[in-house]
Amino acid sequence: MARTFTATLQPLDTTIPDPALIVLIGAAGSGKSTFASTWAPSQVLELDAFRAMVSDEAGDQAATADAVAALRTVLEARLTRKKTTVVDATHCERAVRAGLVQAARRHGVPTVSVLMGTPVSLCVIRQTARTSDRAVPADTVRAQHTAAVTAFPGLRGEGFDHVVFADQLHRLEPLLQRASDARRADLGWDGNPGLGPLLLVRRVFGDAVLPLWRWVEGSTLAGGDRVAEITLGADRLQLALRTDIDGEGDYGFDLLTACPVDDECTAPAWTPAHSVTTLLDALTGALNDTDTVCTVHGDDQDDQDDDLEDLAAPYADAVHA
Ligand SMILES: Nc1ncnc2c1ncn2[C@@H]1O[C@H](COP(=O)(O)OP(=O)(O)OP(=O)(O)O)[C@@H](O)[C@H]1O
Ligand SMILES: [Mg+2]
Ligand SMILES: [Zn+2]
Repeated sequence: MARTFTATLQPLDTTIPDPALIVLIGAAGSGKSTFASTWAPSQVLELDAFRAMVSDEAGDQAATADAVAALRTVLEARLTRKKTTVVDATHCERAVRAGLVQAARRHGVPTVSVLMGTPVSLCVIRQTARTSDRAVPADTVRAQHTAAVTAFPGLRGEGFDHVVFADQLHRLEPLLQRASDARRADLGWDGNPGLGPLLLVRRVFGDAVLPLWRWVEGSTLAGGDRVAEITLGADRLQLALRTDIDGEGDYGFDLLTACPVDDECTAPAWTPAHSVTTLLDALTGALNDTDTVCTVHGDDQDDQDDDLEDLAAPYADAVHA
């Protein structure tokens, strides 16, 4: 067992065996889920996620009993397989912790309690950044924090094999390792094909459209530029890859849309597709067609206001906030 000593000569346990049942303890906003994200997603059982699974609302307290039951079923299956599992909930109540310790013991899996050391003032401040359905009232956060701190001296007595402070653990490496592995796989640096031209697709449109994306070989639709489509069920969007935007060698996509000039026109018209929002707007008829260029009629000169700054403003605000 790895132990270090603080100035007060309190032994500090930093052991996390494998397998282990890891029980995070801390108030709302203490950073449990952020810390839990350093383990593989399949290893983390987050009570909020189970609440969302049974009720569609992560913050629905009335769903807690069903969520706990579902979580415990999955935990039981993992413990049977001796799989390291992180349980992400506040765990401020002794009875809840006792149930977890008992379950792990039945399967001979060691237990580790990890206490989040975040100051209560910070936990409270962090609630203000949350949407109202996820924000926990300040007095509840303070009560949780007091319960967590009060529980600490008794955790060994409750049967935890290891009692650890999150502040003492080195978890950045596994987080960066997984992120780095994923990036290397995307780039094809792990010996597999990688994403190739889909890297640009993902950067522009995000992960959600990647599985729907298909390059259409040999299409002449876009004047010789590479054509792709996004198809799902009855829906189909067609896009062109442009490799010399504004004559500056920039890469980007145009979306096939309707002619902005003549309702009767059936010639291809192209709208720059800057993001997944352009795709949504095209589907819902909300597309601003001032940027649309018909291959026969050109653009709609009457409609030529410069909307680029309007588009950019919210992003500029977000960056400077
Ligand atoms: N190591 C960190 N560095 C910077 N910010 C952090 C860190 N850990 C957590 N935070 C911030 O605190 C916020 C709350 O963290 P998190 O959601 O992980 O708390 P939690 O304990 O899971 O809360 P809850 O019990 O309500 O689910 C995060 O959105 C993040 O902004
Ligand atoms: Mg959380
Ligand atoms: Zn036209």
